[in-house]
Amino acid sequence: MASRLTAVDDFDLVIFGATGDLARRKIFPALFRRHSAGHFPDGARIIGTARTPMDDSGFRADIAAAIAEFDPPRAGDPGLPAFLGRLFYVPVDATGAEGWADLAARMRKDVVQAFYLSVAPALFGDIADRLSGHGIAGSDARIVVEKPFGRDLASARALNRTLARHFTEGQIYRIDHYLGKETVQNLMAIRFANILFEPLWNAHYIDHVQITVAETVGVAGRAAYYDHAGAMRDMVQNHLMQLVCLIAMEPPWRFDPDAVRDEKLKVIRALEPVPESDIVRGQYAADGAGYRADVGNPASRTESFVALKLRLANWRWQGVPFYLRTGKCLAARTSEIAVVFRKPPHSIFDAEERQKPDQLVIRLQPNEGINLMVMIKEPGPGELRLVEVPLDMSFAEALGVDIPDAYERLITEVIRGDQTLFMRGDEVEAAWAWADPVIRAWEEGGAQPASYPPGTSGPDEALGLIGRDGRHWRNLQS
Ligand code: BG6
Repeated sequence: MASRLTAVDDFDLVIFGATGDLARRKIFPALFRRHSAGHFPDGARIIGTARTPMDDSGFRADIAAAIAEFDPPRAGDPGLPAFLGRLFYVPVDATGAEGWADLAARMRKDVVQAFYLSVAPALFGDIADRLSGHGIAGSDARIVVEKPFGRDLASARALNRTLARHFTEGQIYRIDHYLGKETVQNLMAIRFANILFEPLWNAHYIDHVQITVAETVGVAGRAAYYDHAGAMRDMVQNHLMQLVCLIAMEPPWRFDPDAVRDEKLKVIRALEPVPESDIVRGQYAADGAGYRADVGNPASRTESFVALKLRLANWRWQGVPFYLRTGKCLAARTSEIAVVFRKPPHSIFDAEERQKPDQLVIRLQPNEGINLMVMIKEPGPGELRLVEVPLDMSFAEALGVDIPDAYERLITEVIRGDQTLFMRGDEVEAAWAWADPVIRAWEEGGAQPASYPPGTSGPDEALGLIGRDGRHWRNLQS
């Protein structure tokens, strides 16, 4: 089945930080893919800006090199020259005066304007002031910002205020790239486009929920940022929080940006404070190597792994724990959500100890899809024995399409002017309001994170966190 394209209007997309890592690694390869899919109209233009002096042709060569590096199979694509022809470059000093008049002269007024701030948050204010001061951004212009959106509630509020000086909330697109992942969006379709799951989606039928985002990579190359952030700020406050929201939210009255975000906000506000006993922090460590060596900070207490138990104070989820874990340098790259149902109230089978709870496993990556783990009869004569089997659906196989990268989806939504997959200011602030006390308690408590060997499933303490409730994590490799 070919994927259908929703038409987008002509646009000028300006990328600040166009020579930076995120732009080269993710944004330009994603734009090239959308171009190749035939998604861009003839009048679509992309204008890169950064401080580096360069002309259009130098920039085009640089982006061709980025595509060769980060999307090698597509480097020789015959469509590449046409894509490069859409690219322009204006050197701009984000904190100074140079370049802004040139940028203003390059922009068209009668097309969609989007400004993607792929730069450090400290520059948001300078850029917003100048876009507005030079009359570059029209009243319908879109501003796209990346995480980290603050490092606590106070700094997130300050960023929101900075952007609000010149732009309305309806113009601001805060990216959490997890919301652009196909399976994450599918969570809403699975829950709200089917009758099957919703009647069971509550404390009467669900025992617990597990969310795992495991990575095999360490933090080398991002040491300065990461050692200042840690897994809680880097992953839990944003990506895992969004997954919790989509699993736990009430059905919005319709699929509309504010209706969806209102429901997600209610989930965040219903999160109970997390006691220290419900959190495990870890740091990967090996003889003479490990996290501390990677970040060059022998005394670092920053966590590269965190596991925690969440509870929601509302009717639907009363008494249902949500176990979350995420970490670097783990045994496998696996991101999944497992909704573990209760066992049937009465077993008619003798071999009751074999009865396992049904599980709906939503695989985010790799191999996006859904597994419904159910009990059936083991084939063969003799005594009836039960066995657990997966009803397994891989989206790529079932639909015959390549799963697009999150950035392809998100950038297209910006041009289309649909904010459903972007975080609203109050949502981000609520997530920090929940995370702040958890982080502060650790920072003030002075405890060392538990160490774990690279290539494992994290510290043993994380097994204990769920084990003491009589439950266990799913196998990372499964
Ligand atoms: C980023 C984090 O937001 O998400 C990284 O800053 C992390 O530390 C990355 O590696 C994970 O994204 P993905 O799409 O590979 O799961």
